[in-house]
Amino acid sequence: MITEEIPLAKPVLGAAEEAAVIEVLRSGQLSLGPRVPAFEAAFAARIGARYASAVSSGTAGLHLALRAVGVGEGEEVVTSPFSFVASANVVLYERARPVFADIDPRTLNLDPAAAAAAITDRTTALLPVHIFGYPADLPAFEALGLPIVEDACEALGAVHADGVAVGGRGHPAAFGFYANKQLTTGEGGMLTLGSGEHKLAIDSERNQGRAPDMGWLDHDRLGFNYRLSDIACALGLAQLERLDALLAARARVAAWYREALAGLAAERGLGLPCEDAGGDRRGWFVFVVQLPDDADRDGTIRALRALGVQSKPYLPAIHLMSFYRERFGHRPGEFPVCEDIAARSVALPFFPALSEGQIARVAEALTTALG
Ligand SMILES: Cc1ncc(COP(=O)(O)O)c(C=O)c1O
Repeated sequence: MITEEIPLAKPVLGAAEEAAVIEVLRSGQLSLGPRVPAFEAAFAARIGARYASAVSSGTAGLHLALRAVGVGEGEEVVTSPFSFVASANVVLYERARPVFADIDPRTLNLDPAAAAAAITDRTTALLPVHIFGYPADLPAFEALGLPIVEDACEALGAVHADGVAVGGRGHPAAFGFYANKQLTTGEGGMLTLGSGEHKLAIDSERNQGRAPDMGWLDHDRLGFNYRLSDIACALGLAQLERLDALLAARARVAAWYREALAGLAAERGLGLPCEDAGGDRRGWFVFVVQLPDDADRDGTIRALRALGVQSKPYLPAIHLMSFYRERFGHRPGEFPVCEDIAARSVALPFFPALSEGQIARVAEALTTALG
């Protein structure tokens, strides 16, 4: 008999979040208030970044970061095809071109050697993605000598081998706070920054081109409405207070999964997320497995559903999405590692409150589904 369906994701929200939001509602200052700089300061301190700027989404953060490092029309940004579509789309917002390069088969992050080979005289920035919370090889990208914007939307809690938290290296790094993230504000994002000049530009551009010291309706540059409300920032502050516990719970769930799926990995060739290596530490966001070559992915997802387990294909290769194919003429075979991984990847239920018993149910269901 099937008991309750196990969802893919579920935020942890409690009395602290409720109290924080109610306090803002009662204060009457729902936006452009004191929670915004308070959340920024607490987030920057947590990451070890010099500055932080709260924005309305991870996508908004990436867009403003590209503008800050000076990416413009006709230029190229080298990035990963194995990512959420936003990390490529933001390049198009500035009429620049996302140039993809293949990924590392272990980490699933942009391969620095492939990225180096994709650089041309039009390349003005690199946009590595810390996919599934595993730190991209930033020292290798830094050695290429171009401005870097980091997509850290999935990587809160991740740490590089040299002990620097992801987002703390001084490059603009965008975090995302959608409901399935390590920390959520419903929708929202944060840029961590090492440059005061970037902070000034971004704080102005997120608010319609009005610098913080300028008067109402005074705008001296092109801007956007990419603000994050005080309600969201209050929620973020409350989540930040419990971030260590949230991250520890996610890591524990991942360890249970590893144990529960070890048999399928050994006997059926199920691919598991790579283990931390060389001192890099993952900030757990999702638990994505690669099905064996002979498995039918859609059929497996349907079978899991019938057994009360939600799952989804995650992630599709960006260059093979219809829009990217039509616009840039991409074809299968360009990035074989990415394409193989993307074709076999399935995200399993993953959230802090997942119990060991539920994980056993997922493992059993996957064993049945794979036959
Ligand atoms: C890798 C990656 N980049 C960018 C984004 C965009 O973040 P948001 O949904 O907050 O705009 C996400 C979030 O879904 C993501 O996972």
